[in-house]
Amino acid sequence: MRVTERAHQSVRAVVRPGDHVVDATAGNGHDTLLLARLVGPDGRVIAFDVQEEAIAATRCRLAVNGIEEGRVFFVNGSHTMLRQHVDRPVAVVMFNLGYLPGSDHAHTTTRDETLIALAEGWETLRESGILSVVCYRGHPGGAEEAAGVLEYAEGLQDQGASVVISGQKETQEGPFLVIMQKEGKQQVRTGP
Ligand SMILES: C[S@@+](CC[C@H](N)C(=O)[O-])C[C@H]1O[C@@H](n2cnc3c(N)ncnc32)[C@H](O)[C@@H]1O
Repeated sequence: MRVTERAHQSVRAVVRPGDHVVDATAGNGHDTLLLARLVGPDGRVIAFDVQEEAIAATRCRLAVNGIEEGRVFFVNGSHTMLRQHVDRPVAVVMFNLGYLPGSDHAHTTTRDETLIALAEGWETLRESGILSVVCYRGHPGGAEEAAGVLEYAEGLQDQGASVVISGQKETQEGPFLVIMQKEGKQQVRTGP
């Protein structure tokens, strides 16, 4: 199973209708669409992307799939501003790192910004909530960013959080998924 599919599986296990959730990297809208479906008409997705092009692509995907506009609030800006736009505990914060497929790679996520956003995301999670992070290492800066995510996850694990890593962590370049979960009754059981 691809790591993006595994990320979707983990998110499905946690999100309930009416939840508020965050897509930290909207991109082409695949993750935003899944989240919008899961939260339903009474929930909310807050979706970030630094590129207008990505927000337009995501809006288009939602419209084609019949999701009404009000269910997703877009922020055309960095996920480092996460807490400014989230006013209640969220079930999930999803990251799919790297660059917009088909773009010029000028707006790739960066280690420093990702680490700020992960910390802000962790603070906003509700009980049993998860950070879901798909990491890629084949592009410049990707390996450093992925190493930063693993260090962050290890720090949380040391403090008692549950961390599950799946995918090609042991290879030099393959993608991998990191799921970090807050304590609570509803634990994700996605294996490696
Ligand atoms: C791999 S794509 C995301 C794919 C997307 N989740 C999907 O389902 O199609 C990564 C996205 O992160 C965005 N990005 C880069 N830096 C960012 C930042 N600091 N804050 C928010 N988005 C950022 C890029 O513009 C790009 O669209």
